[in-house]
Amino acid sequence: MTGEESAESAAGVGTDRPLVRSLRLGLDAPRTGPLQAALALASAPLDWLDAHRRGFLHGDEEALLTDRLHARRRHGLLVGRYAAKCALAALRPDLDPRVLAIRPGVLEQPVLSGLGIGNVGISLSHAGAVAVALAFPEACPMGVDLERIRPDNVALLTRQTTADERRLLADHLGGPEAERLTRLWCLKEALSKALRCGLTVPLDLLAVGRVEAGPTGLGVTFAHFAQYRGLSLATGDLAAALVLPRPPAVTLAIDAAEWAAFREALAEAAARETAA
Ligand SMILES: CC(C)(COP(=O)(O)OP(=O)(O)OC[C@H]1O[C@@H](n2cnc3c(N)ncnc32)[C@H](O)[C@@H]1OP(=O)(O)O)[C@@H](O)C(=O)NCCC(=O)NCCS
Repeated sequence: MTGEESAESAAGVGTDRPLVRSLRLGLDAPRTGPLQAALALASAPLDWLDAHRRGFLHGDEEALLTDRLHARRRHGLLVGRYAAKCALAALRPDLDPRVLAIRPGVLEQPVLSGLGIGNVGISLSHAGAVAVALAFPEACPMGVDLERIRPDNVALLTRQTTADERRLLADHLGGPEAERLTRLWCLKEALSKALRCGLTVPLDLLAVGRVEAGPTGLGVTFAHFAQYRGLSLATGDLAAALVLPRPPAVTLAIDAAEWAAFREALAEAAARETAA
């Protein structure tokens, strides 16, 4: 991938080729004026990522791929960076992805640097061969998470959520319990990334407070972080969440057709993993 190529151009047919979908997000923010962010989904086999990594990695990112890494971690690092570069390509198609480096910060958070990129933040999450990433203006902190929905995680996730949260989601959402619990988990983890604390805080601090209508389906607010909202998405056996400041600080504008296409891409990514 070069900076000039659109992220979608890498999408191909068949599971040995990457699947990519990106989505631009309009952020109407009265304090700063209009802002833009981009969300990208990528699914790619490790072999493909390894063969093509010199087209999208910065030298400092290449240096993170030491021989000591387990294949699973190598895959996560590569597909996460690839999704992030796709999000960056959607936001700044004029920049070559190889001049942009995403390095771990002191809290292991992704820190983006590179000539011409300015104050752009990255949030990313990987699950097997699939990753989601957000490129957002630092003026508007955001976080993203992606998890696989597994029925055998129900007992564990039940212990990590409050009875109020579980009741709240059950009141608004049908579907299997594993999906509701995983959606809750994703929302909390995405909030923890927006806050940069990760899951090092008592999980109750990240609790979901209310369900509210969102432009994209299930939207929530948080019990202790009133300035943020979360958007939840689940399809196939993948759940994802996006967290960002809520109105009046930021009003999100998403094209409905583009959101539907993003959702379809997530379903396709889930199906590929199941088939693999
Ligand atoms: C952040 C965290 C919730 C991610 O959980 P996960 O389910 O294992 O992994 P995900 O795939 O969803 O996300 C991983 C990505 O989160 C990002 N991340 C890691 N720590 C982060 C933080 N503190 N804030 C924001 N994002 C963070 C990274 O980009 C990471 O991917 P990468 O290592 O390939 O770059 C978890 O790792 C955590 O709680 N970390 C806290 C670690 C910490 O505070 N360390 C302090 C060391 S001094």
